[in-house]
Amino acid sequence: MERAIGVFDSGVGGLTVLNSIRSLLPNENIIYIGDNYHCPYGDKTPEQLFEYASGIVEYFIEQNVKLIVLACNTTSSTVLESLQVAYPQITIIGVIDATVEDFISRKVDNTLVIATSATIKSKKYPDTIKQIDSSIKTYSLATPKLVPLVESGMYKEGIYEVLHEYLDNYLGKVQSIILGCTHYPILKEQIKRVLPNIEYVSSSEAISKNVKAFLADKNLLNINSDNYIKIYTTGETEEFRYSSSGFFDYTGLKVEHIVIK
Ligand code: DGL
Repeated sequence: MERAIGVFDSGVGGLTVLNSIRSLLPNENIIYIGDNYHCPYGDKTPEQLFEYASGIVEYFIEQNVKLIVLACNTTSSTVLESLQVAYPQITIIGVIDATVEDFISRKVDNTLVIATSATIKSKKYPDTIKQIDSSIKTYSLATPKLVPLVESGMYKEGIYEVLHEYLDNYLGKVQSIILGCTHYPILKEQIKRVLPNIEYVSSSEAISKNVKAFLADKNLLNINSDNYIKIYTTGETEEFRYSSSGFFDYTGLKVEHIVIK
Protein backbone atom coordinates (compact mmCIF):
# COMPACT_ATOMS: atom_id res chain seq x y z
CA MET A 1 0.00 0.00 0.00
CA GLU A 2 2.86 2.37 0.77
CA ARG A 3 4.60 1.71 -2.54
CA ALA A 4 4.61 4.79 -4.76
CA ILE A 5 2.64 5.53 -7.91
CA GLY A 6 4.94 6.34 -10.86
CA VAL A 7 3.66 9.20 -13.03
CA PHE A 8 5.39 10.57 -16.12
CA ASP A 9 5.12 12.93 -19.05
CA SER A 10 7.46 14.68 -21.48
CA GLY A 11 7.71 17.68 -19.16
CA VAL A 12 5.63 19.84 -16.84
CA GLY A 13 2.25 18.96 -18.40
CA GLY A 14 1.83 15.78 -16.40
CA LEU A 15 1.95 17.86 -13.24
CA THR A 16 -1.69 18.69 -14.04
CA VAL A 17 -2.36 14.95 -13.64
CA LEU A 18 -0.27 14.90 -10.48
CA ASN A 19 -2.36 17.80 -9.14
CA SER A 20 -5.51 15.83 -9.76
CA ILE A 21 -4.18 12.59 -8.18
CA ARG A 22 -2.77 14.55 -5.25
CA SER A 23 -6.08 16.20 -4.44
CA LEU A 24 -8.15 13.01 -4.75
CA LEU A 25 -5.58 10.72 -3.06
CA PRO A 26 -3.59 12.91 -0.63
CA ASN A 27 -2.01 9.94 1.18
CA GLU A 28 -0.32 8.43 -1.85
CA ASN A 29 3.44 8.41 -2.36
CA ILE A 30 4.20 9.59 -5.89
CA ILE A 31 7.31 9.67 -8.07
CA TYR A 32 6.97 12.06 -11.02
CA ILE A 33 9.29 12.19 -14.02
CA GLY A 34 9.21 14.93 -16.65
CA ASP A 35 11.24 13.72 -19.62
CA ASN A 36 12.29 17.19 -20.71
CA TYR A 37 15.42 15.86 -22.34
CA HIS A 38 13.16 14.39 -25.06
CA CYS A 39 10.42 17.04 -24.96
CA PRO A 40 8.26 17.59 -26.96
CA TYR A 41 6.94 14.06 -27.44
CA GLY A 42 4.31 15.23 -29.92
CA ASP A 43 6.61 15.26 -32.95
CA LYS A 44 8.23 11.86 -32.24
CA THR A 45 7.53 8.48 -33.88
CA PRO A 46 5.87 5.61 -31.98
CA GLU A 47 9.28 3.83 -32.02
CA GLN A 48 11.00 6.77 -30.34
CA LEU A 49 8.15 7.16 -27.84
CA PHE A 50 8.33 3.47 -26.95
CA GLU A 51 12.06 3.77 -26.33
CA TYR A 52 11.73 6.82 -24.05
CA ALA A 53 8.75 5.39 -22.18
CA SER A 54 10.45 1.99 -21.73
CA GLY A 55 13.41 3.61 -19.98
CA ILE A 56 11.11 5.36 -17.55
CA VAL A 57 8.91 2.29 -16.99
CA GLU A 58 12.03 0.23 -16.20
CA TYR A 59 13.19 2.87 -13.72
CA PHE A 60 9.77 2.80 -12.03
CA ILE A 61 9.84 -1.02 -11.88
CA GLU A 62 13.27 -0.82 -10.16
CA GLN A 63 11.71 1.61 -7.68
CA ASN A 64 9.03 -1.02 -6.98
CA VAL A 65 6.07 1.27 -7.76
CA LYS A 66 2.56 -0.21 -7.47
CA LEU A 67 1.12 1.48 -10.58
CA ILE A 68 2.40 3.52 -13.53
CA VAL A 69 0.34 6.37 -14.98
CA LEU A 70 1.14 7.73 -18.43
CA ALA A 71 0.29 11.36 -17.65
CA CYS A 72 0.58 12.01 -21.33
CA ASN A 73 -1.89 11.64 -24.20
CA THR A 74 0.88 11.16 -26.76
CA THR A 75 2.26 7.98 -25.19
CA SER A 76 -1.25 6.90 -24.10
CA SER A 77 -2.50 7.04 -27.69
CA THR A 78 0.53 5.47 -29.38
CA VAL A 79 2.46 3.05 -27.13
CA LEU A 80 0.29 2.15 -24.12
CA GLU A 81 -0.66 -1.30 -25.45
CA SER A 82 2.95 -2.15 -26.44
CA LEU A 83 4.17 -1.11 -22.99
CA GLN A 84 1.49 -3.24 -21.34
CA VAL A 85 2.63 -6.24 -23.40
CA ALA A 86 6.35 -5.58 -22.77
CA TYR A 87 5.95 -5.09 -18.98
CA PRO A 88 3.21 -7.46 -17.79
CA GLN A 89 4.58 -7.41 -14.22
CA ILE A 90 3.22 -3.90 -13.57
CA THR A 91 -0.12 -2.20 -14.28
CA ILE A 92 0.27 0.72 -16.68
CA ILE A 93 -2.66 3.04 -17.37
CA GLY A 94 -3.08 5.91 -19.80
CA VAL A 95 -5.36 8.94 -19.90
CA ILE A 96 -7.49 8.39 -23.01
CA ASP A 97 -10.23 6.04 -21.75
CA ALA A 98 -10.91 8.12 -18.64
CA THR A 99 -11.08 11.29 -20.73
CA VAL A 100 -13.49 9.76 -23.24
CA GLU A 101 -15.71 8.44 -20.40
CA ASP A 102 -15.82 11.94 -18.94
CA PHE A 103 -16.62 13.39 -22.37
CA ILE A 104 -19.44 10.91 -23.05
CA SER A 105 -21.04 11.79 -19.71
CA ARG A 106 -21.43 15.43 -20.94
CA LYS A 107 -24.03 14.31 -23.51
CA VAL A 108 -23.07 16.66 -26.35
CA ASP A 109 -23.37 16.05 -30.10
CA ASN A 110 -19.92 17.17 -31.18
CA THR A 111 -16.46 18.01 -29.97
CA LEU A 112 -13.11 19.40 -30.96
CA VAL A 113 -10.08 17.39 -29.82
CA ILE A 114 -6.90 19.44 -29.61
CA ALA A 115 -3.72 17.47 -29.04
CA THR A 116 -0.16 16.90 -30.23
CA SER A 117 0.55 15.82 -33.81
CA ALA A 118 1.31 12.23 -32.69
CA THR A 119 -1.96 11.96 -30.73
CA ILE A 120 -4.02 13.33 -33.63
CA LYS A 121 -2.25 11.03 -36.09
CA SER A 122 -3.10 7.99 -33.93
CA LYS A 123 -6.87 8.80 -34.27
CA LYS A 124 -7.28 7.33 -30.78
CA TYR A 125 -9.81 9.93 -29.61
CA PRO A 126 -12.21 9.83 -32.59
CA ASP A 127 -11.95 6.02 -32.77
CA THR A 128 -12.65 5.52 -29.06
CA ILE A 129 -15.56 8.00 -29.12
CA LYS A 130 -17.03 6.39 -32.26
CA GLN A 131 -16.94 2.93 -30.65
CA ILE A 132 -19.13 4.22 -27.83
CA ASP A 133 -21.43 6.55 -29.80
CA SER A 134 -21.10 6.74 -33.57
CA SER A 135 -23.49 9.71 -33.78
CA ILE A 136 -20.99 12.10 -32.18
CA LYS A 137 -19.07 14.30 -34.60
CA THR A 138 -15.40 14.68 -33.61
CA TYR A 139 -13.17 17.36 -35.11
CA SER A 140 -9.43 16.83 -34.56
CA LEU A 141 -6.76 19.51 -34.57
CA ALA A 142 -3.02 19.18 -33.97
CA THR A 143 -1.75 22.18 -32.02
CA PRO A 144 2.03 21.63 -31.90
CA LYS A 145 2.93 25.22 -30.97
CA LEU A 146 1.35 24.94 -27.52
CA VAL A 147 3.69 22.56 -25.65
CA PRO A 148 6.85 24.62 -26.37
CA LEU A 149 4.99 27.77 -25.24
CA VAL A 150 4.15 26.05 -21.94
CA GLU A 151 7.59 24.52 -21.40
CA SER A 152 9.37 27.83 -22.04
CA GLY A 153 7.04 29.63 -19.60
CA MET A 154 5.99 32.03 -22.41
CA TYR A 155 2.35 31.12 -21.82
CA LYS A 156 2.50 33.23 -18.68
CA GLU A 157 2.48 36.39 -20.86
CA GLY A 158 -0.70 35.26 -22.66
CA ILE A 159 -0.60 33.47 -26.02
CA TYR A 160 -3.86 34.69 -27.52
CA GLU A 161 -2.52 35.19 -31.04
CA VAL A 162 -1.63 31.50 -31.34
CA LEU A 163 -4.89 30.39 -29.73
CA HIS A 164 -6.97 32.54 -32.10
CA GLU A 165 -5.02 31.18 -35.05
CA TYR A 166 -5.83 27.61 -34.01
CA LEU A 167 -9.33 27.97 -32.64
CA ASP A 168 -11.24 30.81 -34.33
CA ASN A 169 -12.57 28.44 -37.03
CA TYR A 170 -14.41 26.45 -34.35
CA LEU A 171 -16.20 29.36 -32.71
CA GLY A 172 -19.94 28.65 -32.82
CA LYS A 173 -19.26 25.28 -34.43
CA VAL A 174 -18.52 23.00 -31.46
CA GLN A 175 -20.35 22.33 -28.20
CA SER A 176 -17.30 20.99 -26.40
CA ILE A 177 -13.53 20.76 -26.49
CA ILE A 178 -11.30 17.94 -25.29
CA LEU A 179 -7.96 19.21 -24.00
CA GLY A 180 -6.18 16.11 -25.28
CA CYS A 181 -2.73 16.95 -24.00
CA THR A 182 -1.85 17.23 -20.34
CA HIS A 183 -0.08 20.54 -20.97
CA TYR A 184 -3.32 22.19 -22.13
CA PRO A 185 -5.25 22.49 -18.83
CA ILE A 186 -2.55 25.04 -17.92
CA LEU A 187 -3.95 27.14 -20.78
CA LYS A 188 -7.61 26.49 -19.97
CA GLU A 189 -8.51 30.02 -18.86
CA GLN A 190 -6.85 31.51 -21.95
CA ILE A 191 -8.54 28.99 -24.28
CA LYS A 192 -11.89 29.78 -22.59
CA ARG A 193 -11.58 33.39 -23.65
CA VAL A 194 -11.19 32.30 -27.27
CA LEU A 195 -13.86 29.56 -27.18
CA PRO A 196 -16.30 30.57 -24.43
CA ASN A 197 -19.53 28.89 -23.30
CA ILE A 198 -18.75 25.33 -24.31
CA GLU A 199 -18.02 22.18 -22.27
CA TYR A 200 -14.38 21.69 -21.32
CA VAL A 201 -13.07 18.14 -20.89
CA SER A 202 -9.58 17.75 -19.51
CA SER A 203 -7.40 14.68 -19.92
CA SER A 204 -5.79 15.50 -16.57
CA GLU A 205 -8.79 15.38 -14.26
CA ALA A 206 -10.71 12.22 -15.10
CA ILE A 207 -7.71 9.91 -14.73
CA SER A 208 -7.41 10.30 -10.94
CA LYS A 209 -10.79 8.58 -10.50
CA ASN A 210 -9.47 5.57 -12.44
CA VAL A 211 -6.31 5.54 -10.31
CA LYS A 212 -8.44 5.53 -7.16
CA ALA A 213 -10.74 2.80 -8.49
CA PHE A 214 -7.77 0.60 -9.43
CA LEU A 215 -6.05 1.00 -6.04
CA ALA A 216 -9.30 0.47 -4.12
CA ASP A 217 -10.10 -2.65 -6.14
CA LYS A 218 -6.64 -4.14 -5.46
CA ASN A 219 -6.69 -3.04 -1.83
CA LEU A 220 -3.63 -0.88 -2.48
CA LEU A 221 -4.80 2.53 -1.22
CA ASN A 222 -2.27 4.03 1.17
CA ILE A 223 -3.77 4.65 4.60
CA ASN A 224 -0.57 6.08 6.06
CA SER A 225 -0.65 9.89 5.74
CA ASP A 226 3.13 10.30 6.15
CA ASN A 227 3.58 10.56 2.37
CA TYR A 228 6.19 11.88 -0.08
CA ILE A 229 6.14 13.32 -3.59
CA LYS A 230 9.42 13.18 -5.54
CA ILE A 231 9.71 15.25 -8.70
CA TYR A 232 12.40 14.62 -11.29
CA THR A 233 13.21 16.04 -14.70
CA THR A 234 15.61 14.68 -17.29
CA GLY A 235 16.16 18.34 -18.27
CA GLU A 236 16.99 21.56 -16.41
CA THR A 237 15.56 21.73 -12.90
CA GLU A 238 15.33 25.56 -12.79
CA GLU A 239 13.49 25.79 -16.12
CA PHE A 240 11.12 23.03 -15.03
CA ARG A 241 10.31 24.84 -11.84
CA TYR A 242 9.92 28.21 -13.55
CA SER A 243 7.45 26.98 -16.18
CA SER A 244 5.36 25.01 -13.68
CA SER A 245 5.41 27.38 -10.70
CA GLY A 246 2.23 29.15 -11.87
CA PHE A 247 0.03 26.07 -11.54
CA PHE A 248 1.85 23.64 -9.25
CA ASP A 249 2.32 24.10 -5.50
CA TYR A 250 5.92 23.28 -4.60
CA THR A 251 5.58 23.88 -0.86
CA GLY A 252 8.01 21.45 0.77
CA LEU A 253 8.95 19.92 -2.60
CA LYS A 254 12.01 20.21 -4.81
CA VAL A 255 12.79 19.30 -8.41
CA GLU A 256 15.78 17.03 -8.96
CA HIS A 257 17.63 16.03 -12.09
CA ILE A 258 17.53 12.39 -13.17
CA VAL A 259 19.30 10.46 -15.91
CA ILE A 260 17.25 7.62 -17.41
CA LYS A 261 19.19 4.87 -19.19
N1 DGL B 1 1.77 16.30 -22.30
C1 DGL B 1 1.89 15.32 -23.32
C2 DGL B 1 0.57 14.91 -23.88
O1 DGL B 1 -0.37 14.83 -23.12
C3 DGL B 1 3.06 15.41 -24.25
C4 DGL B 1 3.21 16.69 -25.01
C5 DGL B 1 4.49 16.77 -25.82
O2 DGL B 1 5.57 16.60 -25.24
O3 DGL B 1 4.42 17.03 -27.04
O4 DGL B 1 0.43 14.63 -25.05
